[in-house]
Amino acid sequence: MLTGAGISAESGIPTFRGVNGLWNGWRIEEVASPRAFERDPLLVWRFYSERRAGAKGKEPHAGHHALADLEAALGERMFLCTQNVDHLHERAGSRRVTHMHGRLFQSRCSHPACTLAPFDDDRVYHERESLPNCPSCGSLVRPHICWFGEVPFELERIETALLACDLCLVVGTSGVVYPAAGFVEVARARGARTVYVGPEEPGNATAFDELVHGPASVRLPEVVATLSR
Ligand code: OAD
Ligand code: ZN
Repeated sequence: MLTGAGISAESGIPTFRGVNGLWNGWRIEEVASPRAFERDPLLVWRFYSERRAGAKGKEPHAGHHALADLEAALGERMFLCTQNVDHLHERAGSRRVTHMHGRLFQSRCSHPACTLAPFDDDRVYHERESLPNCPSCGSLVRPHICWFGEVPFELERIETALLACDLCLVVGTSGVVYPAAGFVEVARARGARTVYVGPEEPGNATAFDELVHGPASVRLPEVVATLSR
């Protein structure tokens, strides 16, 4: 299973397309990048502080719950990978979620050689003086997010899962951001059935055996019900 911003839309977390890829007039690529953090860490922390504050009280919907219930039934036979950095899959009860683009409520040291592990963090920052430093090496702490120009997390585990899967279910993603947009082709090439759930055709629509049109909160529980039978 692969989920994208669309699965969180009905929980009140706007998609990238929903905000036209903009924040306060900045292109999100200009805020979510290593260069942006080097140039202006406060700007980057203000962006993620807003994301943290915005995601905090949000609740999962029936689509997230359907995936959590499916995991409860299938156990390790199910692999859930999300491009989302929010925690709605976990809030719904999913236990094993691979966050390929990182996690909004975690931070880590910005120094590439530092051994401090990513840690849970829901703090927000709006002033330069308060920006956090690593307790181990003193470098600035950064959000644990895969920024533009960085390599997503856990790609090896994802590839292993794709090469073993019988069904590749993709939910609420535009199908244009790689490498995630290419996962369905890998699964298909190894013989998996491929299904997409969302209101619009994704950019990689031709790679799917079935396109299930509609919002994730309604269509995903229906699709999952047919799988659990
Ligand atoms: P996008 O914002 O590009 O696309 C959102 C998708 O969700 C669209 O295809 C919509 O049709 C679909 N959608 C909207 N409402 C929906 C609903 N109620 N139910 C189901 N689907 C719905 O977001 P992503 O494709 O997830 O990367 O973006 C992929 C990556 O691009 C993000 O993870 C982010 C961004 O750059 C990083 O931050 C590294
Ligand atoms: Zn450090």
